[in-house]
Amino acid sequence: MRILFLADVFGVPGRRAVEAHLVGLRERYDADLAIVNGENAADGAGITPKLADRLLAAGADVVTLGNHAYRRGGIAEYLAASERVLRPANAGALAPGRGLAVVEARGGVRVAVLNLLGQLFMPTPVSPWEVVDALVEEARAAAPVVVVDFHAEATSEKAALAIWLDGRVTAVIGTHTHVQTNDARILPGGTATVTDAGMTGPHDSVIGVRADLAIARMRTQLPVRFEPADGGVRLEGAVVTCTETGRAEQIELLRLPA
Ligand SMILES: [Fe+2]
Repeated sequence: MRILFLADVFGVPGRRAVEAHLVGLRERYDADLAIVNGENAADGAGITPKLADRLLAAGADVVTLGNHAYRRGGIAEYLAASERVLRPANAGALAPGRGLAVVEARGGVRVAVLNLLGQLFMPTPVSPWEVVDALVEEARAAAPVVVVDFHAEATSEKAALAIWLDGRVTAVIGTHTHVQTNDARILPGGTATVTDAGMTGPHDSVIGVRADLAIARMRTQLPVRFEPADGGVRLEGAVVTCTETGRAEQIELLRLPA
């Protein structure tokens, strides 16, 4: 079976690309399930309930988030009620919502999706290492196929977690840096991984943001309001082929002009 993953959907250009192409991509790759990271859907930071619903309506089975999960009004209540829109599982005991979803793929195979935040160079409430083993056990008890979206800054942390989970999950897909890395591989135990799956959004930019604004903030260190760029829109992510028992056989990176 095949799982399609779209990395960090950024702003209006990213969301439009998902709405225009996700159904077609599912067909083209014969995907049984689609996971979309929607962490930057609302103008580049966070997601609103309306946008989360739009990503689901566009063909996402599960939407994952990250460090900006709670940036937008109304989303806490939405996450508390949603079974398919995940905030990071290590967001802290008081954070509304859930970090683990169990859904049925086309054909009936159950798939567990787990969203986790890295702790290196990020203000993360709970270390992912403290919670990941119990969460993976819970996921495996519920589903043979387990996909982890590890939203983290450091390549080292993402590589380390993937190797730690090798043989226990189907895939560990890195997100957050918006720059797709050239290291997709199947680890010896049968876990597919890539350090970062990239960004679905405008690539003529500084990781999605209008370059002039990002540069102005860096040069002056003054507050500058970021806006999404609009050029060079690509859909990026990965397609993982796995057995129905959850062992990965292949990972292919997606990098498609919208
Ligand atoms: Fe992020």
